[in-house]
Parts: sequence; structure tokens; C-alpha cells
Amino acid sequence: MAKVMVMEHPLIQHKIGIIRRTGTSSKEFRELVGEVAMFMAYEATRDLKLREIEIETPLAKTKAMQLAGKKLAVVPILRAGLGMVEGMLAMIPAAKVGHIGLYRDPDTLEPVEYYCKLPADSSEREVFVVDPMLATGGSAVAAIAMLKEKGVKNIRFLCLIAAPEGLKKLQETHPDVDIYVGALDDHLNEHGYIVPGLGDAGDRIFGTK
Ligand code: PRP
Ligand code: URA
Repeated sequence: MAKVMVMEHPLIQHKIGIIRRTGTSSKEFRELVGEVAMFMAYEATRDLKLREIEIETPLAKTKAMQLAGKKLAVVPILRAGLGMVEGMLAMIPAAKVGHIGLYRDPDTLEPVEYYCKLPADSSEREVFVVDPMLATGGSAVAAIAMLKEKGVKNIRFLCLIAAPEGLKKLQETHPDVDIYVGALDDHLNEHGYIVPGLGDAGDRIFGTK
């Protein structure tokens, strides 16, 4: 079964508390989503493989550590996932970036695919799928299925806020995908919104409502 890690870091919790508030402006919201993504990238990369190499400092030869595992890629689910990309790249600047376009049909709540562009060597990479919200889980499940169809084998999913319903669906459908969650909320309302949540993440990031 997939590992689920709910981030307990005080800075993550504090920043998510500000993000949730109705009065937080789009500018602050975007900045904070980026900052939380940065901390989450730090936590979600704890187990990356290292190898020892010989280096020379100005004073002496010595041994140092270097990342040794698979190369990395970040794949935001459009639109709201875009808000997490910069923060992720601040931590893992050599990562390539793919994009998956999905929107949730407001009536059926089913994800509708409209775009997919991935790095050519994605199947060789460790891929971090990012989206601030895991609600019914439909979008995350579909995005990860699209990646697997293209041969991607090593996938992690990062979100700021998850509902128990979405978490369960994602774990059950993709048990090989580890899930990193900023905060685990209470439930979904009748429109599929996370309660207490933060509202519509895409609209709040881009100021479209
Ligand atoms: C939001 C969010 C997720 C999805 C989560 O995107 O960013 O992608 O809903 O809901 P789910 O778990 O029930 O699928 P939305 O469809 O609103 O698109 P947007 O990012 O373009 O605003
Ligand atoms: N998408 C959002 O942006 N917010 C929710 O609460 C659910 C889905």
C-alpha cells in the first residue's frame, strides 16, 4: 500500500493556515503556495539516493555526497498545480517539467483531459505530480494513469490539502504511489469541495473569481 505522509512541520502548518483564509489575496496565496511547495519538496526528497564521490576543496582532497538515483521531473496538474512548480524547482532545480491538463467537470466531478506534454525521458525519471487539492481524487488518479500509460514507473504525489475520500481513492487505485499531504481535512461537501479546505485553488492562485 502507498505511504501517506501528512506534513507536520510547523512552518507548513502555519502557512497553510494563512492560505485557507478568505481574506488572503491572490498575491499572498500564490507566494504561500510556492513556499509550502518548497518545504514539501524538501520532505518528499528525503529518501533520494546518494553516492560518495572524490572532490577537491581549495585545501584538500575529500569525499562528498552527490545525488545518484534517477533524474527528477515535476508534473503539475493544470491549472492549480502550476502554483507549486516554482517552489519545487527552488529545491530541485535540475528537474524537468511536464504538464498535464485536466479540469473537473462541475456536474459530474469527473476529470476531463485537455493537455499532456512530458519530458521525452519521463519513463526513466522519478516523477513528482503536484496539485494543491486532492478532493474526490479523480484528477490525481487520472493524471497518474496517464503517466503510467507513457511508461512512467516511479511516481510521487504532493498536495497541500487532501480530503479523506480522495486519499482513499488514490491509495487504492495507485498503491505504488507515495502521497505527501500538507493537511488532511474533514470531508467533501455536496459539490465536491474540500471542507474546511481553501475554496477553488486555481481561482485563488490566478484571481479568476
Ligand atoms: C482542482 C484541483 C484539482 C482538482 C481536485 O482543479 O486543482 O486538480 O480540482 O479535484 P478532484 O480530486 O475531485 O479531481 P480544477 O478542476 O478546479 O481545475 P483548475 O486547476 O484548472 O482550476
Ligand atoms: N478543487 C479545488 O480547487 N478545491 C476543492 O475544494 C476541490 C477541488
